[in-house]
Amino acid sequence: MYNKINPENINLSTELPVQEPERQYYFIARCQKWAEGFEEKNCRRPRACVVNMGCQMNARDSEKLAGILESAGYILTEGEEEADFVIYNTCTVRDNANQKVYGRLGHLNSLKKRNPSLKVALCGCMMQEPSALEKIRKSYSFVDLIFGTHNIYKFGELLYGMLEAEGMVVDIWQDTDQIVENLPVERKYPFKSGINIMFGCNNFCSYCIVPYVRGRERSRKPEDILSEIKALVAEGVIEVMLLGQNVNSYGKNLENPISFAQLLGEIEKIEGLQRIRFMTSHPKDLSDGLIQVMKESKKICRHLHLPLQSGSTRILSAMNRRYTKEQYLALVEKIRREIPDIAITTDIIVGFPGEQPEDVDETIDVVRKAKYDNAFTFIYSKRTGTPAAAMENQTPEETVKEGFGRLLKVVQETAREQISRLEGQTLEALVEEVNQQDGSLLTGRLSNNTIVHFQGDQSLIGQIVPVCLKECHGFYYLGEIARE
Ligand code: SAH
Ligand code: SF4
Ligand code: F3S
Repeated sequence: MYNKINPENINLSTELPVQEPERQYYFIARCQKWAEGFEEKNCRRPRACVVNMGCQMNARDSEKLAGILESAGYILTEGEEEADFVIYNTCTVRDNANQKVYGRLGHLNSLKKRNPSLKVALCGCMMQEPSALEKIRKSYSFVDLIFGTHNIYKFGELLYGMLEAEGMVVDIWQDTDQIVENLPVERKYPFKSGINIMFGCNNFCSYCIVPYVRGRERSRKPEDILSEIKALVAEGVIEVMLLGQNVNSYGKNLENPISFAQLLGEIEKIEGLQRIRFMTSHPKDLSDGLIQVMKESKKICRHLHLPLQSGSTRILSAMNRRYTKEQYLALVEKIRREIPDIAITTDIIVGFPGEQPEDVDETIDVVRKAKYDNAFTFIYSKRTGTPAAAMENQTPEETVKEGFGRLLKVVQETAREQISRLEGQTLEALVEEVNQQDGSLLTGRLSNNTIVHFQGDQSLIGQIVPVCLKECHGFYYLGEIARE
């Protein structure tokens, strides 16, 4: 675990530290004392279950929650049924994410009736939404702890507060300019890790709730990012994924500004690190400098996630994306010219207010021309408080369904065509896990993010091996380890 806390080094009889992260270490040590008491009474350590419901940024936050819980003396478990503490790290990007939380809370309520000592916590993006918070307070009053995205670093303190308190503890901040470094983190994979390089978003795409729930854009200092990656590499990490809502605007607001391309150049120099990924890139800010760094790099993976959202310039303008269809296509062409073996993936929304079948035609045209390896397609979801939610021309459900179906068909065709181009080639794959459906196979990931399944020994997990891509099955390959 990155940055494990040793409770013996923390003096609980001194005054409560004011500085962070020392203050949090103090509370984590207090929780450890509580966990010792629990163990004496129950002859076992308390068990905690962290459920991640959001994007990669939320997943990274969940690793931080897990790190703090482990440091506090909990044992992590996958099952909610056997846990003494359950925390949901929520998402709210689309309404169905919220509905999922309400559904699962119903189940937790019945678990809690059977086991009244079970504690339940909610955090993450959905908690930053006043209407959702209100509903939970009123209709799910059995929840013990609620906090948001801005004060997640305070989890140790909040956890201790909850263990001591009667009734619901709620702590939600509107925003923050603080970034607290050096808290414990428990990683899901020993050989790869996400790294936050920035938090928040300033783009305010008109449909999107993220800027409201994640706050303004804040970049971490390059020296903090580099030292975190070096420490991870020393622990055996060979692949990192740099995370931010718009990595291309990284570093612009730092005291000593630095570009994302420059940051990548520095990360490239870290010895022992073999693969670098990043997401997400906003097309409006993707610089020639970045394309150049990617082209020359030995470590940056041949994959770019470049959300399109819509192929219609009219809709893009209403979405406040700040590029046109033609600018997007020109960018894709430039990237492909410079880095021919790159795989490009995207996100697309269907059903934005005012969208007509002709707009979907434009989107389909871009899908055909951009030749995506994959496109994540979403039906527009109205998010309260965003400018698009107030637009009067919401698209009828029938039109949305029809457009979505048409788009999906083209996405599948083009992705298959694009991915199958690699058939017969031998490429390097990072072996990630045993195949979840078929235990005799391993699952690996190519530099361009394509998945390949092949036979091999579990001891290869975490290593990069050459794999011959035998058969393309839509979005993945069946392959064979290449013998040298
Ligand atoms: N910062 C990233 C996206 C984060 S949200 C970017 O700009 O690329 C991930 C995806 O969710 C978005 O790319 C978008 O396609 C989708 N999304 C966001 N808000 C949505 C909404 N209100 N309805 C449907 N999909 C939405
Ligand atoms: Fe949302 Fe746009 Fe920011 Fe992405 S760039 S998080 S879509 S506002
Ligand atoms: Fe991510 Fe969902 Fe929040 S997409 S930033 S977890 S709203």
